[in-house]
Amino acid sequence: MLWVSTVVLLAAELLEGQREAMGCLPPPGARNWARGRPAAQSSTYPQWGTVYSRAESAVDGHRDGDWSHGSCSHTTREREPWWRVDLGARYAVTAVVVKNRQDCCSERIRGAQIQVGDSLANHGRCNSVCGTITNSSAGSLSIVCCERRKGRYVSILIPGREESLTLCELEVYGSELRDEC
Ligand SMILES: *[C@@H]1O[C@H](CO)[C@@H](O)[C@H](O)[C@H]1NC(C)=O
Repeated sequence: MLWVSTVVLLAAELLEGQREAMGCLPPPGARNWARGRPAAQSSTYPQWGTVYSRAESAVDGHRDGDWSHGSCSHTTREREPWWRVDLGARYAVTAVVVKNRQDCCSERIRGAQIQVGDSLANHGRCNSVCGTITNSSAGSLSIVCCERRKGRYVSILIPGREESLTLCELEVYGSELRDEC
């Protein structure tokens, strides 16, 4: 009996160690809290009607990287474009996963900054920064660790330049906070 629980404990510690080694990778089957939540962005690229580029397309549950399939958000080209999702409650965010565009223009996402917090001021710029996207190859999947930063809003912004912001999916992992200030 005793050794069984010791073995179970050891196995749990091993698993935990593996997870840490892989950074903040969400476990298989983890719930994506951004899916289906209301989203907003600085502008919406108007070609073929804005339905193709809506902010909500980044939280539709599809990682399809081809913009013409209608599953990516897309702003117009402008200075410091941004996108934001309202999680509807406060979460301790462990990871944000971003699927980059695959059919064209993948380099545009370079340096995009991810923030988590409760403030809507300056489109989330006052919130805590988790990190930036460094992999801008076609269709790349970037995992940005957020170290349990707390907040209701997750936003992404391209600082310091004129650009178009396209997100083929943005997923938020972590745990909901209850009765916490
Ligand atoms: C960037 O993403 C591509 C496509 O997903 C992948 O093959 C490549 O290994 C990534 N590069 C780095 C440095 O992580």
